[in-house]
Amino acid sequence: MDLLISNIKTLLPTESESRPFVAGEQMSELDSIENAWLHISEGKIRNFGTMSDPALTRIRKTMSGLQELSASGKMVIPAFCDSHTHLVYAGSREGEYTDKIRGLSYEEIAKRGGGILNSAALLRETHEDELYRQSHARVKEILKMGTGAVEIKSGYGLDTNSELKMLRVIRRLKETTPLDIRATFLGAHSFPLEYRKDTERYVDLVVSEMIPAVSEEGLADYIDVFCDRGFFTVKQTERILEAGISHGLKPKIHANELDFSGGIQTGIKYGALSVDHLEFTGAEEIRCLLDSDTMPTLLPGASFFLGLKYAPAREMINAGLPVALASDFNPGSSPSGNMKLVMSLACIQMRMLPAEALHAVTLNSAYAMGLHETHGSISRGKKANLIITGEVPGFDYLPYAYGSDLVDTVILNGSIEYKKDYEL
Ligand code: NIG
Ligand code: FE
Repeated sequence: MDLLISNIKTLLPTESESRPFVAGEQMSELDSIENAWLHISEGKIRNFGTMSDPALTRIRKTMSGLQELSASGKMVIPAFCDSHTHLVYAGSREGEYTDKIRGLSYEEIAKRGGGILNSAALLRETHEDELYRQSHARVKEILKMGTGAVEIKSGYGLDTNSELKMLRVIRRLKETTPLDIRATFLGAHSFPLEYRKDTERYVDLVVSEMIPAVSEEGLADYIDVFCDRGFFTVKQTERILEAGISHGLKPKIHANELDFSGGIQTGIKYGALSVDHLEFTGAEEIRCLLDSDTMPTLLPGASFFLGLKYAPAREMINAGLPVALASDFNPGSSPSGNMKLVMSLACIQMRMLPAEALHAVTLNSAYAMGLHETHGSISRGKKANLIITGEVPGFDYLPYAYGSDLVDTVILNGSIEYKKDYEL
């Protein structure tokens, strides 16, 4: 059925010709239409314009069975694309949260065998159906907060069967939810305790057993490695990426969260779609990124939650780079998939302008998960994945009102998947 959204206060960001991403100064430029309409047909954005446009009268007259939705006082924006999450996990880690408040660092917790290994122990003993149930609830939660496409990583299994279990849960989420989901194999997330003395043996396992098994079942689109101080070295990362690429998996890696690890350069060398975290990024890393097609992806939720420094978003954008933002939704460093809050953190803590933050959670994050041709902007022919906001004075109000739920309606593939119930 066709859907017409009318009386839209502001429709943005509109594009007459779609671009793969926006970079540098373009990031602060938002094309928009005031007092707009948008026509959805067969799940796609068919057309849009201003309410005084004669095309609107034609649509209303000629389309039989047209459903019309008035968005008076409200804005319509693309649904968020969250290009970096670990939302398939078992249980939670609020005990470590308290340890951190008492003074232990993320790295100290990891060294003691906590952190990622804590989640791995729990995940290994959780049945696949129960893991699906817990993860499905998180997908429903992010849908209500306006996310329409999400990338989900494995990496809490750390043995072949448990990694496959995670990826099968991701596949099931793809089949049972209206979100567009991309799966990433992250067997190289941490070294299990039994491999700590000989980490190469674990790399052998990832390369010769896990990657072929994942590829055999066609369970992943991308390959990730946590390339950082105390985790995987550049050499180990290279071995794993080479094996992944030879099995058709494109890299998308964790880099430079804890140090100048060389991760950014390694990702670029292997044609990574994105390098993510980037708290430790200097002039040299920015220069390499400028010469590449790799999307720098920043995760301010993790910096906020761990009390670590933020990535230098301002320097990157001023140098002409594109920037994407994602939630990193995971039990250890960012237990939230709230992309509107991610925008607020980016604005307040990294001095990104609201317009830059909007491009970073839509078109640029769509690019970072290979979906820019179909997602991330108001462009004719793109998927109708949209958010209708609550009544707001203007776009900047969205990140400004950082604790308010301003998502009224979520439309995915042209269908209304969520509508806020105002009746108490
Ligand atoms: O992106 N940095 C590595 N991995 C996750 C944290 C995972 C965890 O602590 O459970 C991250 O922050
Ligand atoms: Fe992460």
